[in-house]
Amino acid sequence: MKAFYKSSFSKSASSIYGDLPDPVANTKQLLIEVKAVSINPVDYKLNNADTKFLPGAKLPKIVGTDFAGIVRKAAEGVSEFMIGDRVYGAVSIFLGKPGSMAELLVTEPKNARHIPEFMTYEEAASLPVAALTALNGLRRCGINVGNNLLINGATGGVGHFAVQIAKAKGAKVTATCSQKNSDLAKELGADVTIGYTAAEKANISVPFDAIFDAWGQMKYKDYSPILKKDGTYASPLILFAPAFMTNLIWLFTRKKITSSNMRKRPEDYAEIEKLFSEKKLKPVIEHIFPLEKASEAFEFAEKGRPRGKIIITI
Ligand SMILES: NC(=O)c1ccc[n+]([C@@H]2O[C@H](COP(=O)([O-])OP(=O)(O)OC[C@H]3O[C@@H](n4cnc5c(N)ncnc54)[C@H](OP(=O)(O)O)[C@@H]3O)[C@@H](O)[C@H]2O)c1
Repeated sequence: MKAFYKSSFSKSASSIYGDLPDPVANTKQLLIEVKAVSINPVDYKLNNADTKFLPGAKLPKIVGTDFAGIVRKAAEGVSEFMIGDRVYGAVSIFLGKPGSMAELLVTEPKNARHIPEFMTYEEAASLPVAALTALNGLRRCGINVGNNLLINGATGGVGHFAVQIAKAKGAKVTATCSQKNSDLAKELGADVTIGYTAAEKANISVPFDAIFDAWGQMKYKDYSPILKKDGTYASPLILFAPAFMTNLIWLFTRKKITSSNMRKRPEDYAEIEKLFSEKKLKPVIEHIFPLEKASEAFEFAEKGRPRGKIIITI
């Protein structure tokens, strides 16, 4: 099969497009013909990293997390998935497991969901990591109807889903984004948009009930003054502030600082799928590349400041 994979652990050796043996599913696994995958920052961060320290590291290492495709071999004793079913989901590439950027993927049924009606493979592949991370970030923010919410980095993969989910939950959304993306942020539902310059940020007068930092790298000195007492700041990145620091901040300021990873329980997927079917959530797909151009797609995702998601089709 064709795949996009790392053939060396070295960080200077990015993934290559080429042939690998077809994977073989055991009786408990699904064999999926992959139709589309999306790129998330974790994919290019791993692509650029020395991966020999990953748990269970081995070569060749197929990269990629999100996938959408068709079941070609069903697991025994699992009635939920049949040959020919359209499925999507996210795989873990740790513990020696293969990523999704290949013609064929072998994975456990727990990593797959049926693709809802009227959802394309490209749309399905765009959702898992980014939309579920946005959903969990907003959950951590405790968003309710009428809450005043700031979403920082509002038109990227995570941010553009966060704006739509927050609006569906009835929040008043202020979005920060590059000037060129201001119209997109408004189309997604943002009530107010702000650029990144100090002058534009200085216009923020209302303190927010919550701040979801989809970009993930805001500084405490920037978000604390615009966050209400009892408000929450959530970032999808691991925060390096030690727990005692965040506890101290909570004690003295009553401001909660939290890290919010992707959470992928069935009820999380179901919430995203419901929003999609109600037309309250629609992936923005900036660019679609074929698998043989995966290197270009990675370059664009990492350096091209994409809007929404970058998809690779197979
Ligand atoms: N922990 C998890 O489970 C998890 C899951 C998914 C993502 N993440 C992390 O979340 C982060 C965002 O992921 P993503 O998929 O949304 O990435 P992305 O698609 O590359 O989007 C990045 C966003 O950041 C914005 N941005 C760039 N410079 C900025 C600045 N100086 N101030 C504010 N915003 C800025 C960009 O906006 P403009 O283009 O308008 O400048 C863009 O909207 C990444 O670091 C990723 O690793 C974590």
